[in-house]
Parts: sequence; structure tokens; C-alpha cells
Amino acid sequence: MEKITVIKGFKDILPEDTPIWWQVESIARKVFSSYGFREIRIPIMEKTELFKRSIGETTDIVEKEMYTFRDRDEELLTLRPEATASVIRAYIEHNMPSSEQITRLFTIGPMFRRERPQKGRFRQFHQIDAELFGADEPQSDAEVILMLVHFLESTGLPEMSLEINSLGCKSCRPVFSGAVVDYLRGSEEYLCADCRRRMHTNPLRVFDCKVESCITIIEKAPQILDYICLECKNHFAQVKAYLNALNIKYVVNPTMVRGLDYYTRTAFEVKSGSLGAQNSLAGGGRYDGLVSFLGGPEVSGIGFAVGFERLLACLPADTEISRYKTELFIAALGSRAQKIGFKLACELRRAGISAAMDYSDKSLKSQMKRADKLNSAYTLIMGDKEIENRQIELRNMSTKNQQVLPFGNLHESIIDIIKERGK
Ligand code: HAM
Repeated sequence: MEKITVIKGFKDILPEDTPIWWQVESIARKVFSSYGFREIRIPIMEKTELFKRSIGETTDIVEKEMYTFRDRDEELLTLRPEATASVIRAYIEHNMPSSEQITRLFTIGPMFRRERPQKGRFRQFHQIDAELFGADEPQSDAEVILMLVHFLESTGLPEMSLEINSLGCKSCRPVFSGAVVDYLRGSEEYLCADCRRRMHTNPLRVFDCKVESCITIIEKAPQILDYICLECKNHFAQVKAYLNALNIKYVVNPTMVRGLDYYTRTAFEVKSGSLGAQNSLAGGGRYDGLVSFLGGPEVSGIGFAVGFERLLACLPADTEISRYKTELFIAALGSRAQKIGFKLACELRRAGISAAMDYSDKSLKSQMKRADKLNSAYTLIMGDKEIENRQIELRNMSTKNQQVLPFGNLHESIIDIIKERGK
């Protein structure tokens, strides 16, 4: 029979890799909660309209990367390509704006984009996403950026660079877009077909183009920071001042526009050299106006998402990971020992001790091999003879020392020894 393989661009996360996922998730939960962020879990599928309206009809994500299908009742549904839109949908739907002035939420989970798979780019990938609603003061921009940097540093990421920009607001950005279109008109023939189209549909997207000839043209294009209004300029100046006060290193990248249409004012990206071409580890920014555009009240928002797989790829190979460990292996030899061993293993597991045993009553040699393979801290050696003598041997697998435990209160003795070791 032909075997069925995983879908292109999708990946299994194998048991040897899940401990680092747990570890990074638990660092995120710990760091984010110290900034007052609370976890929200949202569905992986939404009505297509939500992403079209928020991310923008003429972005690459909406134009060509969404997994969209018609449900049996003809409704158009999409596997989420990002989390911000869904978090906002939930924020509005559960009336959060009316119960608190500022809401800080985070979520962790899979996202789906039908991009061309390559190193660091998948069709199912995971994001760690945080969103802050209800504050437009520059302190909140600095707070969110600090939290991102704090989180990334806590994971042990050896190097990163933070780039920031301001994308202006709904009054000054159209002026800039107009200037870009005017500039591109002179070089239309050198632009790729996509950019020639983007010029008329969404001129800022030309800044994201990876085609060499377009990059050369864009290098000399007008820069947004020369076009933003006084309020946006002041806001950006204050964000930078707060980042300086917090000793957060950054560079201003005036050509960074981000790939989603909803951003206003502050936009930022974290890059890491070790990622190569797909070097963006995290990205985010402010999106004042998006909550009301999705049917909610006039509430500001700012957030970011970290690419989980890309972050893991950047962590040093010697990152200390608390791996799964077997605390006790029960080597039971003979039918009586097997029965008693099985009951003991079940009791110990209920008491929170990771206990393993081989149910097939193999030779002692083969059971000891299995205990080694499972990296077991202790092995209990129990044959019918030992049970008869009511004395069971416990071997410390790292020191190789053996001690004899009385059969009568085996359960308690083992729990005491293992708990003592864990202290
Ligand atoms: P984004 O820049 O599209 O922003 O994605 C954030 C991060 O997700 C990227 O920096 C990258 O690490 C990771 N990522 C994106 N696409 C892929 C892929 N195909 N394979 C692997 N990793 C990928 C957003 O999604 C915004 N929602 C962020 C945000 C939150 N803005 C405000 N709040």
C-alpha cells in the first residue's frame, strides 16, 4: 500500500522536539503575565471576510496565500493566516472594550499561509502573538516592544536587531502613497508585473517586493518619514525617546512597511542574522482604527507576533532543555513480579512519578537496556525470588549504587527517594 505523507509545507513536531516548545511557551506565559497580558484561545478558522477586511484585499496574504474554502452551507471560511484579526474579533464579540479601558491579550498557536515552502517558511507555522488594546500613548508602544525584547532575551536568543519605522496615519499616509505613485510612474517599465499592478492597487506593497529591479527602484523612492504629519512625528519621537530611556537598541528603517495593511504609526520587526533570507523573527505595530473598522468602538491597538519555528531555529544548539525523564523503570521478571510491578507502576504514575516498565517479561539484560534507553534515574529489580524474600533492589542508574528496599512499603520508600532526589 502506498504511504500517505504529510502535506507540503506542513510539519510534525516530534516528541524529541516538544520539550523546547513547552519551554519557550512557558517563558512566554511567564514574561507576558508580568506585563499584565492574559491568554486567549481563538479558533483556527474564521469567516473569510474578517481577514479580507483587516489584512487588506490587495496584500499578498489575502490575494494568494489564504486557505479558503466553501463550507457545506456555502459560507466562505479561511484557516487563519495570523492572529490579530481573530483576537480583535473576539475582543469585540465578548464586549471587552466596555469592561476595561486597557486589555492585554496573548495567544499561541498555528497559522496557515500558502507560501512557497523553504527554509524558515512553512505553510503551517506557529506564532506567539500579543495585543494591547485601549492605549495610544507612546509608552504603550515602548511597553510592547520592551516585552518582545524581554521575551526573546529570556529564551536565550544570542543576537537580534530591532528595526522600527512610522507608517503615519489615515491623514498623512495617502499623501505619501501619492508621492510613491508619482515617483514610480517614471520607472514603470522596470517594475515587475506584480509591482506595476500594485502601483495602482496598493503602492506601499512595492516596498516588500523581492525582485532585484524593483528593489533598485525602491531604494531611491520617497521615504515615509519625510511625509508623516506633525502628530505622527511627535508620537514617533516619543516612542524612540522611551526606547532610549529603556536602553533598547534599535535602528530606524524608513523602508519597512510590513506586509499587512492595517498598520498605523509605529511598525517594528526583529531580525536575526542566522535566519538568512527569511530573517524576520517577529513583527508588529500599531493599528489604530482597525478595531472600529471591524465593527468595534474607536479603540487603539498595538501588538506583535513571533514566528515560533524561526525563533527555535535561532536558539543555540546547547540551549538547556528540561527533557522528558523517566524517574523509575520497573524491571519485573516472572509472572508474579509482572503483576505486582504493573500495579506499582500505575500507583506511582497516579502519585505523579514517571514510571515505566516492560510488559513482555523479557530477560533482565534486555530490560536494563530499555531502562538505559529511557534515561531512567532508578531501576527497580524485582523477580519472583526477590518478592519471596521480601527484599527488592533499587539501582541508581547514574552512580550504579544499589540499595535494598523492604517489600512491605515499597511504594512509600520509592516516593521518598525520588522526591528527595528532586529537591
Ligand atoms: P507577520 O510579520 O506577518 O505579522 O508575521 C509575524 C512573524 O510570523 C514573522 O516575523 C515570522 O517570524 C512568522 N511567519 C510569518 N509567515 C511565516 C511562514 N510562512 N513560515 C514561518 N514563519 C512565518 C503578523 O502576522 C501580525 N499579525 C503581527 C502583529 C500582531 N501585528 C500586530 N499584532
